Amino acid sequence: MNHLLKLLDMSGEEIIETLNLADQLKYETKHGIEHHHLKGKCLGMIFEKSSTRTRVSFEVGINQLGGYAVVLGAQGSQIGRGEPVQDTARVLSRYVDGIMIRTFEQAEVEALAQYGSVPVINGLTDFCHPCQVLADLMTIREYKGALEGLKLCFIGDGNNMMNSLIVGGLKVGMNVSVACPEGYRPPQEILDFAGSYAGFQLTDSPMEAAKNADVVITDVWTSMGQEEERAKREAAFRGYCVDAALMAQAKPDAMVQHCLPAHRGEEISEEVFESNAKYIFEEAENRLHAQKAVMVLTMGRQ
Ligand code: CP
Ligand code: NVA
Repeated sequence: MNHLLKLLDMSGEEIIETLNLADQLKYETKHGIEHHHLKGKCLGMIFEKSSTRTRVSFEVGINQLGGYAVVLGAQGSQIGRGEPVQDTARVLSRYVDGIMIRTFEQAEVEALAQYGSVPVINGLTDFCHPCQVLADLMTIREYKGALEGLKLCFIGDGNNMMNSLIVGGLKVGMNVSVACPEGYRPPQEILDFAGSYAGFQLTDSPMEAAKNADVVITDVWTSMGQEEERAKREAAFRGYCVDAALMAQAKPDAMVQHCLPAHRGEEISEEVFESNAKYIFEEAENRLHAQKAVMVLTMGRQ
């Protein structure tokens, strides 16, 4: 793997290979088995948006692999003052062995990879959140034993999470059903991709999407950068809460995933969140293991 820019670039086999390595690294981490595959290597991390999980899991992860991290925020670096990404890419490539970036535009991540000469890992853009979805798939496989043939349902906004779940889920052989209000559907590029899969369903009925689901997933209605639309979005997503009534449509043993942070009482009820806490926090932990696999596969193994 040269980079992880979006799951659209990966084959189903590559996704499974990444999950297999993530499982192995999780086992080694839990059993205190050293795995310094990136000894002495430096991960540069760029954050143009806030983060708790991505920031900590990448920094801890590169340390556990024998490397270390340097963190840049938009504020406090020249990125926030408008230095072009083409130049940042060529400069950072001379100092670090890989770059993780969280930003707004997908095009910025693609430009970083194009102009730089080290692996680039997407830590979230407006378009997608591939690291999160690798962790989600890892968690689902951990609890369900397999991915192929399961029904994954996403309720809410056609945002970065929905986009990556559609792509990742379909590529590994899951059936993917998404419910979103008109005006909040995934971008055409994602719908075009999904359109060739018989197992894809798009509806504006959350109840319909959740029918017989093995996994129910949701995310905030207002993503980072959309704060001014909050009131409008709250109105548009009324009826899209993952609550007990919605979960009654899913299989009795259905599990819930949420990338976090969650807004209880908005996209998910307190009751559904807490009764699925073990899955949701395992999912958060698996960010660490999945991203370590991504770093090893992109930045090389010693
Ligand atoms: N889920 C996720 O990416 O969390 P952070 O925004 O805290 O990194
Ligand atoms: N859709 C959310 C995900 C946060 C991890 C956002 O982009 O803010």
